[in-house]
Amino acid sequence: MESLNNAKISGTGSYVPEKIITNNDLERIVETTDEWIATRTGIKQRRIADDNVATSDLATEASKKALLDANLSAKDLDLIIVATATPDMSFPSTACIVQKNLGAYNAAAFDIGAACTGFIYAITLGNQFIRTGMYHNVLVIGAETLSRIINWEDRDTCVLFGDGAGAVVLQKSENDCGIISSYLGADGENGHTLTQPAGGSRLPASIETIESKLHYIKMDGNEVFKFAVRAMEKSALRALVDSNLSLDEIDFLIPHQANIRIIEAAAKRLKLSMDKVYVNLNLYGNMSAASVPVALDEAAKKGFLTKGSHVLIVGFGGGLTWGASIIKWTK
Ligand code: UT7
Repeated sequence: MESLNNAKISGTGSYVPEKIITNNDLERIVETTDEWIATRTGIKQRRIADDNVATSDLATEASKKALLDANLSAKDLDLIIVATATPDMSFPSTACIVQKNLGAYNAAAFDIGAACTGFIYAITLGNQFIRTGMYHNVLVIGAETLSRIINWEDRDTCVLFGDGAGAVVLQKSENDCGIISSYLGADGENGHTLTQPAGGSRLPASIETIESKLHYIKMDGNEVFKFAVRAMEKSALRALVDSNLSLDEIDFLIPHQANIRIIEAAAKRLKLSMDKVYVNLNLYGNMSAASVPVALDEAAKKGFLTKGSHVLIVGFGGGLTWGASIIKWTK
């Protein structure tokens, strides 16, 4: 095995569907207002995939852009990891469908499930494959079509989510750059606060589960809110300890984009200025596993992430799960 060099991000890409649903559009569907959604969440609009578009389609588009950015051919990929809570189907995995779409025939491929923390888990996993020397070119994707598991009659949840995909290419870093620390956590005890109850082996699809609307997202918003603020703070601090960096040395925070009040509360606890925090949830809502890689791609393309800067990515979500990574940017 080769030496334990960190993975660096050598390319990023993202893709969101064209169709926009604004808060005003939602006012016509459920009893809500633009004012309530904007002040309680920060969300103004979200993207929704057309009926004939699945998670793998969004993932494929984001991946093509990431490969182009990394100047890499799909045939060079050794591994594809897709983080998603909304796979095309149980199996084959969405990663295998993306492999076919890209023509990445030399790559192993699998999905991982850690809900909204999925991308943080996946990039941490990808980093380990690079560090051990087992793989050289790893594609890590966060992709969701949450619109398929939203109950459009439930105003508590339907205003929150959107569809999209983001991808990164990981390759070995030449020096001590790239993903310099990672931290992951989980709390299955409180998993019931955010679930999609039916459609798996516990409650397979049946007329009863459909009539009871058990295939849709169920969330205890207040509990998840409190958990999210604590999880963001804890994850960021733990990743910092492992990196031997102080908060002052963090140049940019890219958090999971669920609610602006969660992000602001966590930034306040961390004493991090909001000038250093990337926010795009006003445009896309909560895209679960896709939110961090889409934000990462946008921040990179806008020139916010400069060579040598320390980028902190943080996620939290169903499971419950949480995690963070610190990346010394190399591009
Ligand atoms: O990615 C990880 C997963 N998700 C999250 O991170 C989400 C975490 N939670 C949250 O972001 C917030 O808890 C929500 C945005 C979901 C809810 O915000 P809140 O400030 O906690 O509101 P609430 O649930 O306490 O509801 C306040 C009121 C309620 O009415 P009453 O009981 O006070 O009369 C709700 O029925 O707002 C009502 N409400 C709405 N009103 C208009 C709930 N949803 C809506 C809505 N429009 N869409």
